[in-house]
Amino acid sequence: AAAAEYQAENATIVDGVVESNHTGYTGSGFVNYNNAVGSYVEFTINAAAAGSSTLTLRYANGTTTNRPMDISVNGAVVSAGLAFGGTGAWTNWADAKVNVTLKAGANVVRATATTANGGPNLDRITEGSGGGTPTGTP
Ligand code: GCU
Repeated sequence: AAAAEYQAENATIVDGVVESNHTGYTGSGFVNYNNAVGSYVEFTINAAAAGSSTLTLRYANGTTTNRPMDISVNGAVVSAGLAFGGTGAWTNWADAKVNVTLKAGANVVRATATTANGGPNLDRITEGSGGGTPTGTP
């Protein structure tokens, strides 16, 4: 099946803002996490069937310091402090992958910043094998 894409700008954003000032994002923008511990973006990801899957988080980090985040699925942290290292520029986007177990139907996936720097800029999450191909923007 084709991988499903969930744009961060359409997700629930707590302590962050939608921006579009750095090119290369997909959709209409990306989320700039506020520089704070606990800022998060929460997605509702629909799985056709229960089972293992891969979440691909497309992000940019124009600094040289990791922007770690906890990734949780349905309230349980499945990847603690995933690094989200520097991508060289805010216009360079990279994929971070997390293997997860999803239930059939709606799954709540949250990516929460764990340091005072906040999260990276987050473009989207893709669910499913394959991970999709970034299409970019002007
Ligand atoms: C810069 C950059 C933002 C980024 C921010 C940060 O302001 O333009 O896109 O989110 O740094 O450090 O988080």
